[in-house]
Amino acid sequence: MDPTSIAKLITKEADVTPTVLAAMADTDDPRLKEIMTSMVTHLHQFLLETRPTEAEFEYALRWIVEIGQFTNEFHNEVVLAADVVGASTLIDLINNDGMQGETMSALLGPFYRGDAPACANGECIARSETPGPSLFFSGKVVGADGAPIAGAALDVWQASPVGLYENQDETQEDCNLRGKFTSGADGRFHFQSVKPAGYPVPTGGPVGVLLRAQKRTPMRPAHIHFIVSAPGHKTLITQIFSDSPEALATDVVFGAKQQIVGDFRMHTQPHPDYPGATLPFYTCEYDFRLVEGTPVFPVPPISGKKS
Ligand code: BEZ
Ligand code: FE
Repeated sequence: MDPTSIAKLITKEADVTPTVLAAMADTDDPRLKEIMTSMVTHLHQFLLETRPTEAEFEYALRWIVEIGQFTNEFHNEVVLAADVVGASTLIDLINNDGMQGETMSALLGPFYRGDAPACANGECIARSETPGPSLFFSGKVVGADGAPIAGAALDVWQASPVGLYENQDETQEDCNLRGKFTSGADGRFHFQSVKPAGYPVPTGGPVGVLLRAQKRTPMRPAHIHFIVSAPGHKTLITQIFSDSPEALATDVVFGAKQQIVGDFRMHTQPHPDYPGATLPFYTCEYDFRLVEGTPVFPVPPISGKKS
């Protein structure tokens, strides 16, 4: 081989980035090439700026290995790690800017299962003893023009007020506080649950180590998750919040947005629309607005509950 045709070997810091980019230059997929070129360039810049020691580099690699080791079909530490560094919320905003008047979205989080039972309107999603005041949630699914969308699917899930999703808590029934509803001919839906409470994200793994080192709260403000979808419409992944301004502003995963704070009303007197409801109870009415598009569904980060 002609020795002049072989690129020079790396001899100094400044040689590394162009040499690695040259090695990737034949990538056929243009999007992969664009992403990897940018990723390598920014990664090298970050390393040159922060100049980690070898011990720090080993520690960082170990942390990433542990994120993988902590992940299984019941727990997703990878998604949690992306969430606490703001990556998931940034991806959400890049892809869902709300500029067409659609309901604002929010990150999916690591607790979506995808196999919640189908429910009739009005059903209660508390399937086992669940503390907390009753909540009657109702609303309408509408299109960009405000017209009701019949037959829209609403996949709903929330944590128990004890601070755990059912898949984290063996005392809760399988799929407690999860259900799939369908809007009626008038676009309306309604279901019963318990008023959500704030809860800490799981801190038993490498993400918890990071949060403690950064002296950060692990808390999420109280919320209910929704995936709202209908044929011919862009799927909406969102959360409806119910908490203090301070709790919303200190959400550990940066997911709270003002437009998706619900009007949770406390009722201390019997109400004819909710006969027999134990006092106090709460109501919340929220309308979801979808825009036209192709429905796309997220791959569930977990697939079930440990039995
Ligand atoms: C959640 O809302 O379920 C969630 C989101 C991000 C991290 C942990 C939990
Ligand atoms: Fe949640």
